[in-house]
Amino acid sequence: MNRICIAPSILSADFSAMGAAVEQLQRCGADLIHCDVMDGSFVPKITFGADMVASLKKHTSLPLDVHLMVVEPQNKIDDFIKAGADYLTFHYEACGERSAEVLRAIRSNGVKAGISVSPDTPVEKVLPLLEEADMLLVMSVYPGKGGQKFIEHTLSKAETAREFFAKHGFSRDVEIDGGINEENAARVKAAGVNILVAGNTVFRSPDMAKTISFLRDVK
Ligand code: DX5
Ligand code: ZN
Repeated sequence: MNRICIAPSILSADFSAMGAAVEQLQRCGADLIHCDVMDGSFVPKITFGADMVASLKKHTSLPLDVHLMVVEPQNKIDDFIKAGADYLTFHYEACGERSAEVLRAIRSNGVKAGISVSPDTPVEKVLPLLEEADMLLVMSVYPGKGGQKFIEHTLSKAETAREFFAKHGFSRDVEIDGGINEENAARVKAAGVNILVAGNTVFRSPDMAKTISFLRDVK
């Protein structure tokens, strides 16, 4: 893909009206719907599972960008593939050496596979895996909740990944997730990010469409 995309996170939506939230995001020009799955073990919060993803599929034609913040993702990917995830991303911290196998399992089902690194994980841990992936998800906050402050040092991971792609002659989507707003959107794109997740910034906006297009277009 590599075109600039805005993926609003529904973690900041009204959970009692999630279908309406994704319909509104589509109307307001979102490119992807970022679905934050939290299991209460990998992170303390519990959000929703594959049944929610399957229900949301009926409310939007946008790709569902499912972010698994779960332990043992290898045992959970089948449910999300069946639910209709278009991108399915898990955490390196949850899989370690098994990550390549999980990426292959996701891709073998025709779903785009993503691997995510939390702020304290060096991006070098996942560079060798990126040829088996469709996307690198750089966490710019500690996973587990929305509305946190952007962690500046994480941005260098996007630059390192782009250098790695150039050196090895291939390219992948680079997504950044957490604390993205009108102030830092231009900077993250300049660092090589092409998919921007934004929960709080989009859902607290008085004009969602304007905010989404600003995040996409700001240089
Ligand atoms: C945090 C989630 C992020 C977060 C983004 O664990 O992965 O997607 O909800 O929300 P904001 O944009 O509010 O930081
Ligand atoms: Zn996320």
